[in-house]
Amino acid sequence: MAKQKFTAYTLFAALIAAIGGLLFGYNTSAISGAILFLTKDFNLSTVAQEVIISVILIGALIGACFGGILTDRIGRKPTLLLTAIIFLIGVFIVMTADHVTNLIVGRLILGLAIGIVSLAVPLYISEMSDPKHRGALVSLNQLAITIGILLAYVVDYFYAPTGEWRSMFGIALIPAVLLFIGLFFIPETPSYLASKGKKDKALKILRKIEINTSKSEVVVEKGPSKKMCSWKKLFEKSMRPALIAGIGISVFQQITGINIVIYYAPRIFQLAGIESAASAILATMGVGTINFLMTIVALWLIDMVGRKPLLIVGLIGMILSLGVLGIGFLETTKATSVISIVSLMTYVSFFAISLGPIAWLIISEIYPMGIRGRAMGIAIFANWVCNYIISLTFLTLVDILGKSGTFWLYAFIGLFGLWFVIKKIPETKGKELKEIQKYFKKKAAKN
Ligand code: BGC
Repeated sequence: MAKQKFTAYTLFAALIAAIGGLLFGYNTSAISGAILFLTKDFNLSTVAQEVIISVILIGALIGACFGGILTDRIGRKPTLLLTAIIFLIGVFIVMTADHVTNLIVGRLILGLAIGIVSLAVPLYISEMSDPKHRGALVSLNQLAITIGILLAYVVDYFYAPTGEWRSMFGIALIPAVLLFIGLFFIPETPSYLASKGKKDKALKILRKIEINTSKSEVVVEKGPSKKMCSWKKLFEKSMRPALIAGIGISVFQQITGINIVIYYAPRIFQLAGIESAASAILATMGVGTINFLMTIVALWLIDMVGRKPLLIVGLIGMILSLGVLGIGFLETTKATSVISIVSLMTYVSFFAISLGPIAWLIISEIYPMGIRGRAMGIAIFANWVCNYIISLTFLTLVDILGKSGTFWLYAFIGLFGLWFVIKKIPETKGKELKEIQKYFKKKAAKN
């Protein structure tokens, strides 16, 4: 594409799309406070509880697969519109559920929407952004995810005394409606339009986000030719380094354990010696707040110092914090409780300035037009599979390895993550998307 500029219009489009991120964060986290009351009202067995909690992740990994194909076929904006509708249906089914089956089906549908949106939002914003501000703009998605998580903790806390789980879920209707309406005021991305040969339409939008563009400057980002199947292109040798980079960063975002903290925080605080449930929930809100605040710091730094330095510092911080967390769990005294709580908070802070926003950003930057959606779909599918495995195995790992051993295991995995980032992830700060893709092609040719 011709050079894009940062305008209020771009920011507006990014903010509307980022409501999808808020729905992602909210709907994955609201269950933590609601499950207690659901268990009482529906007389749930442990297995039923586990299914209700985890089915959303199954939906998300299915959604990630479809999201890639949808965004490439029907476009970025129609996909987002469809997702807003799926969110509305999912929330409605869950909040009005009078049977366990409805709850499960509703959460599966919500998961589908989350999977699609986790792909469509970074993709949409990345294509709307200028290179200089792309890092911060795409990371608005991660900021919105953290706002969604924090909001879910606060809403759960607010409704806990009355046990109104329907309201805990139902609040999500508000952002879903806002996303649906907002989408009528933002355009399809110019790159997508141009790649489909709609140069006039692309030009109209480019004129709003650029200065002095002429039709001849609307360069079409080339996808695979019609004769070539997109899937075949995706698995060509020339795509391998980018595919590995995207899948790897996505996987390490999850297997370094972030969602153990996000999903099990009250439990971890109780393991660390905070006895009252109310204090544990309050400390959990502290986690949500730190996660949100440090993501703002990331937004500020990401286009200034670059992606790679933040990833390296973040991963080192996460590894050290996990190491100390493990030490804190060796015995339970007042002092070790404090150590555990502080190191948990520093772990979340380092995640929030690194793997949190940057994993989504990198995968939205490195793939060529035409197969971008599908390629992101594979990386994001891997993200949700790992999320599922890590969330499901945490309590069993604590039984087998002990509390300290479990956190040291995540620290050890973090070391591999650090090696991977240093070796496989290039700096993408300030570069045009085309330049980044050229880098990966050259790398493939060398191998
Ligand atoms: C991750 C989520 C995580 C969240 C925490 C996101 O980037 O993909 O799995 O719950 O960050 O802020």
